Amino acid sequence: MLDFINDKKRTHYAVKLNKQNVGENVTLMGWVHRRRDLGGLIFIDLRDVTGKIQIVFHPENDSAHSKAGKLRNEYVIAVTGKVVLREQQNINSNMKTGEIEIEVQELLLLNNSEPLPVQINENVLAEENLRLKYRYLDLRRDKVKDIILIRHEIVYAIREFLVKKDFYEIETPMLMKSTPEGARDFLVPSRVHNGKFFALPQSPQIYKQLLMIGGFDRYFQIARCFRDEDLRADRQPEFTQLDLEMSYVTQEEIFQIMEDLFKYVFNKVINIDLPIPFPHLTYKQSMDRYGSDKPDTRFEMELNDLSGIVANSEFKVFSGALQTGGSVRCVVASGCAGYSRKQIDMLIDRAKHVGGKGLAYAKYQDGDFQAGISKFLSDEEKKQIIKLTGAVDGDLILFAADRNKIVFKVLSEIRNYLGKELELYDPKQFDLLWITDFPLFEYNDDEDRWETAHHMFTLPKEEHLNYFETGEYEKIEGQLYDLVCNGLELSSGSIRCHRLDIQKKIFDVLGFSEEELEEKFGFFLNALRYGTPPHGGIAPGIDRMVMIMSGAQSIRDVIAFPKTLQATDLMSDSPATVSQKQLDELGINISTKKKNIQPKNSELNEKGK
Ligand code: AMO
Ligand code: AMP
Repeated sequence: MLDFINDKKRTHYAVKLNKQNVGENVTLMGWVHRRRDLGGLIFIDLRDVTGKIQIVFHPENDSAHSKAGKLRNEYVIAVTGKVVLREQQNINSNMKTGEIEIEVQELLLLNNSEPLPVQINENVLAEENLRLKYRYLDLRRDKVKDIILIRHEIVYAIREFLVKKDFYEIETPMLMKSTPEGARDFLVPSRVHNGKFFALPQSPQIYKQLLMIGGFDRYFQIARCFRDEDLRADRQPEFTQLDLEMSYVTQEEIFQIMEDLFKYVFNKVINIDLPIPFPHLTYKQSMDRYGSDKPDTRFEMELNDLSGIVANSEFKVFSGALQTGGSVRCVVASGCAGYSRKQIDMLIDRAKHVGGKGLAYAKYQDGDFQAGISKFLSDEEKKQIIKLTGAVDGDLILFAADRNKIVFKVLSEIRNYLGKELELYDPKQFDLLWITDFPLFEYNDDEDRWETAHHMFTLPKEEHLNYFETGEYEKIEGQLYDLVCNGLELSSGSIRCHRLDIQKKIFDVLGFSEEELEEKFGFFLNALRYGTPPHGGIAPGIDRMVMIMSGAQSIRDVIAFPKTLQATDLMSDSPATVSQKQLDELGINISTKKKNIQPKNSELNEKGK
């Protein structure tokens, strides 16, 4: 028989009770987390959103005691009883409420539960897909719940900080025009205008600039963003940004606000005192030293450029790469000369996984280079390599030779993997830094055209404007910056192009025709005509902030209802088909040649496995 709550009112949350409440009569409500029936006494761990507390049923209270005998895990109960001190030998120091317990006088059984498909009170984790299918049960687990609550704390602290700094929180549309902004759009067909589509925002970028033109001066939003791209351990199709924008602002002011914000949030939520200001690296320095624009700077193992040393190498892989304009670089894995063939093959596989043709190696052992490509290196080359890298006996040297882009990809992958494998850093450390001076454009060899390296609304450096005339687009740097932490890109931002003439030059390089420009961006370009103030901003990814601050390994752990790597929601079984009537209203025919795209699995790369 189930009871109704009627006029019973909860007086406390479980973990709000402590020794000070001893002697009080309280009413708690929650789940049966665990039940122990000791013949006479029945002990139950009652769990609510705050945590657990032990409640006790004595046989003398016959009605409550016999009802308690029928309780099972995850039944929902309300209990009224007295807070008592536990005897010294019964104190449970693993529980926040371990010094006290509740002697129950009255028990209401509010609901029962079928046996659970995934266990909540066990340390052995069910397989992730099963947990995602029953996400509402998974959310009851402390570890999952705690991260979602940290997320709440972070967002609350952000709002508190920014409102005090005179930012206005303003919402921008979810249904907008599809504009080519980098990733693929999620489209929403219009019923009212068949054949026409809205897009879900990849970010509020254009709108926040329009808000500056609209005069709001300082804007922020906890903004949902949508991008239809391949997913990874740090990427979801819908995610959240702290989006912000300021008028009349310099890069340095943005850095300062962000540093103060991060300091405040880290301090308030996880009690970490971040040192500010954060260090800076230019994009070029970051690539040369770490092979990545999101370097994990918690450990050294930096890249070395050997191009000068092996220019005339008899090893064709090296000389070949140099002759075609590439480079030869290496990293030194300290103390790894003893690596087995199998371990080295695993590193080579990783190199290939990220696009390398291979990974050459040499073991520095017993005073000489051994195995791998040692036989191709002259004594002079070996000497120079040792001098440049500082390698010592017992080290393993790993070489990549290719176009720079590939060399950097391979060696940063190897560096990140070995950093984790060799435990070269303290996983609890937070290394935040700014990467600055990004190039504005990148040449896309495959499609034979220029694209923006970050985004197209960035102000080029004033001293680089003449490269638009000379056609040396690769030399144009933008006022672009990223905030990086422990190898993860946390935020990205820029000072924007507030001048129509410069914005047009950028679109010109990207190859938009006049008609295309008018069609895709006409409304925005028009707005730039009417007194646009200089402005700039940034957008930290909230999901990634939560990952970093909570120590979560996957972005799926920091979102209440995440999508899988296959971009599905296992709980609601979506995406799903819709009725013919809905399709007809939208004027949509599903092609018989419909595709099921297998998303690329780049999880190997992300998880460091
Ligand atoms: P950007 O595209 O670099 O910049 O995104 C900013 C930050 O958002 C986070 N992020 C993601 N998080 C989870 N899943 C994803 N798929 C995903 N994509 C991006 C990252 C990233 O650093 N409008 C510009 C910002 C600006 O210039 O102000 C923008 O969106 O943490
Ligand atoms: P191969 O000549 O292809 O048999 O390669 C000889 C060695 O060089 C192997 O250990 C490969 O893994 C390695 N190797 C091949 N291509 C590259 C490259 N582009 N950069 C570094 N090492 C490579």
